[in-house]
Formats: sequence, C-alpha cells, structure tokens
Amino acid sequence: MYKTIIRPLFFSFDPEKIHHFTFSLIRFFHKIGFGSIFQSIYKIENPKLERELFGLKFPNPVGLAAGFDKNAKLYKELSNFGFGFIEIGTVTPKPQPGNEKPRLFRLKEDSAIINRMGFNNGGVEEAVERLKKNPATALEKTKHVLIGGNIGKNKVTPNEEAVNDYIICFEALFDYVDYFVVNVSSPNTPNLRELQEKKPLTDLLQTLQDRNHSKEKRKPILLKIAPDLTDEQLLDIIEIIATTKIDGVIATNTTISREGIFSENKKEMGGLSGKPLNKRATEVIRFLSEKSNKAFPIIGVGGIHSAADALEKLDAGASLVQLYTGFIYEGPGLIKEINEAIVKRK
Ligand SMILES: Cc1cc2nc3c(=O)[nH]c(=O)nc-3n(C[C@H](O)[C@H](O)[C@H](O)COP(=O)(O)O)c2cc1C
Repeated sequence: MYKTIIRPLFFSFDPEKIHHFTFSLIRFFHKIGFGSIFQSIYKIENPKLERELFGLKFPNPVGLAAGFDKNAKLYKELSNFGFGFIEIGTVTPKPQPGNEKPRLFRLKEDSAIINRMGFNNGGVEEAVERLKKNPATALEKTKHVLIGGNIGKNKVTPNEEAVNDYIICFEALFDYVDYFVVNVSSPNTPNLRELQEKKPLTDLLQTLQDRNHSKEKRKPILLKIAPDLTDEQLLDIIEIIATTKIDGVIATNTTISREGIFSENKKEMGGLSGKPLNKRATEVIRFLSEKSNKAFPIIGVGGIHSAADALEKLDAGASLVQLYTGFIYEGPGLIKEINEAIVKRK
C-alpha cells in the first residue's frame, strides 16, 4: 500500500512540507491508539536479531539515521515501526534556521534525495527537554529502542572554536542518550568537513573522550564520516580511532558526487543520499573493516533500499545498519523486510 498509494500521493507535494505533515500524521495515529497496531505489523522480536555492541544491547540491527528526527520530536512513535535504534539530531548548541528553502529535493528517477538543510534544529536544550519528558534512554520506558545523539556545530561557530560546540552538546545530552555520534561530515555547513582532517579530528575526539572518561559511566562515541574521503584519509581515520579509542564509525553521510545521476535535480547543491550512494558507502565500510582488521564496529548507512542491500553492508563489515532515504522511498515495510532476511539467513 505504501508504494502504490501513500508514496505517489506524498511525492506529489513539496518534500519538506510533506516531511512535517508525515510527522503530524504519525503523531495523530499514535494519539488515537495505532502505536500497538504499527508494532504488530512492523516489529519483529527475535533473539537472532539482538546485537551487543559497545556495551549496549540492540534489539535489532536496523536503525533510523540522523536527520529524520532532528529535534527528538517523534522517536518514540517511530520506534513502533520496528527500528532497533533511532538517532536524533544533528543538534547544535544554539537553535538555527538552516539554509534557505527550497533545500530538499527528490530525484525520483534515481531513487535519491539531495538535501542542503544545513543543520536546521531547535538547539540542544530543546531536544533535551523533549528527551527528559519522554525518556527512552537505556530502554527505560519504551523497552524497545536505543537513542543516539548526533551532535554538530553551529554555522556561525568558526572551526577553531568548534570543539566547544561539540562539548556543549555532549554535556547537555549525556544523561539522555545511549550513544553519541560526532558529525563532521555534513556537506551543508561551510567548512565542517575540514574537521575530518587528522589534527583537528584527533583533538576534537580526544577532548570528548577525556570528558567521557571523567563521567561515572562513559557512553559510546562514534564518528560519522563522509563517503568522499580518499583511501589515505580513511587510513588516517583508522589511526585516529586507534589513538583516541572512540567506539566506532558510522559510514557514511551523504555525498557531494553526482556520478551516474540522471534526474533534473542533480544540479542542486547539497548532499546526495539514496540508491546512488549504496556502492560507495559499502566500499568505505569494506575498506575500513579490512584495513583495520575489524578493530572497531561500523554502522553501515547509505542507499539501503532492500534487504539485499542491508545484508551486503553487513557482509562488508557493518555490525548494524541505518536507513533514511530507503525509509522514504520504500516505506516502513523495509525495516521488517531487512529484519526478516537477517533472521532467515542464520
Ligand atoms: C534530508 C536529510 C537530512 C539529513 N540530516 C542529517 C543530519 O542532520 N545529520 C547527519 O549526520 N546526517 C544527516 N543526513 C544523512 C543521513 O543520516 C544518512 O547518512 C544519508 O542520508 C545516507 O543514508 P541513506 O542513503 O539511507 O539516506 C540527512 C539525510 C537527509 C536525506
């Protein structure tokens, strides 16, 4: 029903407007008691799906990638679609409007999206207030979903002061998320990706790790990287992870490449996600896994539109996977399809 009725209808409207409308719709359906119905349709519980990673127990290995629930408004409702974990954010210390609209574009012929949202978000404090009211941390209440906190810097903060922005978000979210993701890979905040260079990245991650170690119980910290890094840069990432001893990598964010794209909207600036990203994201996962000798866990994301795509990422070395564009194009049934394929396979 999603692909024959809901998607054609939704795709006839402006992508950003329909995103907000979908939020209201999902919230409405939950208010009138559909939460358990969604669960019974989409959720699978099976010990074969459980994964233990960085001290956390994931009920299943399929997560929602960052950027969908930027402000932690809908993670509980979304969890009823069967996700094992949901990443909120990217949040920044201060609220910011993001880039001018339009900034979100469908590339239907390519099953892809280009976005240049630019970390539009209500600021970390607002997200914390919501997380406090509706705790899911450590499976406290929902009992079925883990929450990641994806953190970034404000557009107005120069790179030299960026560490401070990440610390503010880290400290504010510490008690309310299960793991952290340091996002230095969005193409839509000017110069952000320069923080992926060896020296600034080591400093940033080491500072966060020092903070982390000063806590009674530390939380896992992961690094989210761009698919556009060279092999040499990926080797640097492996070295930085060994030095700072952070917990893992999320590979990958959106790409600035437009290779093999047909849609008219390919001329739009921003990060490309969806099917065309699949191959490169998998390559990055395989490279990191092989060259590091599986030294750290990898969360695989980028262009997963089918169970086969997800299995391929797992085979390439990912321990968990995340979806964004595939969730939009294929609908919530994709989560179940992937989980079923994993159960069947073992
Ligand atoms: C509209 C949109 C907004 C996004 N916002 C963020 C974000 O705020 N932070 C982030 O780390 N990734 C963000 N992403 C990237 C996704 O989390 C994911 O890494 C990427 O889209 C590749 O996965 P996919 O092909 O399944 O979409 C965004 C993606 C899209 C399409």
